[in-house]
Amino acid sequence: MKIVDNISEMRLLRQQITVPVGFVPTMGYLHEGHISLVKHAKTENSLLVVSIFVNPTQFGPTEDFKQYPRDTQRDFSLLDRENVDIVFMPSDEEMYPGDFTTWVEVNQITDRLEGASRPTHFKGVTTVVAKLFNIIQPARAYFGQKDAQQLLVIKKMVADLNMNLEIITVPTMREPDGLAMSSRNIYLNPKEHQAALVLYQSLSLAHKLWRQGERNAEIIRQEMEYLIKKQPLAEINYISIADNNSLEELDTVIPQTLVSLAVKIGRTRLIDNILLK
Ligand code: PAF
Repeated sequence: MKIVDNISEMRLLRQQITVPVGFVPTMGYLHEGHISLVKHAKTENSLLVVSIFVNPTQFGPTEDFKQYPRDTQRDFSLLDRENVDIVFMPSDEEMYPGDFTTWVEVNQITDRLEGASRPTHFKGVTTVVAKLFNIIQPARAYFGQKDAQQLLVIKKMVADLNMNLEIITVPTMREPDGLAMSSRNIYLNPKEHQAALVLYQSLSLAHKLWRQGERNAEIIRQEMEYLIKKQPLAEINYISIADNNSLEELDTVIPQTLVSLAVKIGRTRLIDNILLK
């Protein structure tokens, strides 16, 4: 496994590669969710690049950029075990030199859900992902369904800017107790971890109601809210029942509706979602 920490070396290496490249962008502190992206990508590409870059521009001024967990040596050994070919790990200064002034922004769908709570988040995500795509020039890039809105925003950017690659969705990986895997789960103490199970419980309740024939989105939302409010450590940020392309809220639930939520457990803000099938 080759570790590349600067853009010019990555470009040089890329020029020598003649096969289509698979790409998994990450912010490191890898967990089973990332590994499932890597495994998935491995089956579809003969050469795989994984990036590790904690992107400062997608964190708001009061968010956890400085505290965001990092463990590069552990990440390297996990990626080595999966036979990743190249790890690209640029510095902040290289990605955002002092004279950096260009941003990639997707409008409308970024105003909702995560974008409503984190107004500059997606501008940072799309800018860094566009830069990474330009540097690595992948044929396919892999994103988790866990960050459902991020996935839609990236797909929109790729379509609108005619980027020449395929975006592949990989299902959410969960702990055996149902908690969606996330690098931020490390912030939860055992009591909070237990409380955080309410996210998936409420999504499972939505799914159960849907399977039983409930189609009124407001009723489903209220039932979810009622369940979450019984958990004293949980503070709801949003519960959304929305179209899985436009992210517009729905009155009537249809197949492939995206049910998503953000809930603070103690000081940790968690997100999760399911598609009603
Ligand atoms: O999902 C993430 O880890 C990040 O948002 C990404 C796509 C690597 C961009 O920094």
